[in-house]
Amino acid sequence: MSTNQGRLTKDGIRIYEPADFDGMRKAGQLAAQILDEIAVDVFPGQTTGVIDQKITDAVNAAGATSATIGYKGYQHASCISVNHVVCHGIPGDKVLKDGDILNIDVTVIVDGWFGDTSRMYVAGKPNRKAERLMQVTHDALMKGIEAAKPGNTFGDIGHAIQTYAESNRMSVVRDFCGHGLGRVFHAAPNVLHYGRAGSGAMLEEGMFFTIEPMINLGRPETKVLADDWTAVTRDKSLSAQFEHSIGIGPDGADIFTLSPGGMFHPTYQV
Ligand code: MF3
Ligand code: CO
Ligand code: CO
Repeated sequence: MSTNQGRLTKDGIRIYEPADFDGMRKAGQLAAQILDEIAVDVFPGQTTGVIDQKITDAVNAAGATSATIGYKGYQHASCISVNHVVCHGIPGDKVLKDGDILNIDVTVIVDGWFGDTSRMYVAGKPNRKAERLMQVTHDALMKGIEAAKPGNTFGDIGHAIQTYAESNRMSVVRDFCGHGLGRVFHAAPNVLHYGRAGSGAMLEEGMFFTIEPMINLGRPETKVLADDWTAVTRDKSLSAQFEHSIGIGPDGADIFTLSPGGMFHPTYQV
């Protein structure tokens, strides 16, 4: 195996080689395919624990490894964050009811490469506010990805997301961010989902990172529950999140975690 791990920028951000994009795509595609497959298992009456078990089974069937099982003591192959849960919801006995919206976040390791993606699902039918929140959050992520190209800065990504969310009278969570990844789960930089245009490190070809905005209908503040994982909105308002793993190419972002079935956006029909 090559020991060439590329170079680090002055901001400590790893620059990967063109051949490394293939490894990331393979990992990202498996994570995205698992999120496609799990869609049929989201319905009123289902528990988040059963959904997680199916994700564990799918990771194992693919001969891959879950990045989250054993990560800082976390014991599940997914995070499932329902309604006012912002992120890191722990799957378990919770029963989904009609109209619940939920984020399912899966990270797999394939041949040493990490693929990290999450998207929103609905149990039954969402109300109009929930639908709008999911649409705006999805579109905010895509606006962030559009800004992810050489010559722009990380601040341009955050600015694009924040401007879009706030122009729709929603708020951007500050307490969690995207992250560099590659042969590791979490690396520099912290990818903020808010910020000033032109601020932060320059984007360069060969950078791999996630963008994963969490957007709230109410205020941006969060708190972590006594289980030390589950983050919720302090005002109990609904929260949504979408996440892609991307690589910076010569002209813009290469999205490693595109849905093979075109099911990333929650308006797909199972
Ligand atoms: N996949 C999450 C992220 O986007 C991290 C989950 S860590 C866990 O960074 F331990 F909570 F699973
Ligand atoms: Co992530
Ligand atoms: Co994730």
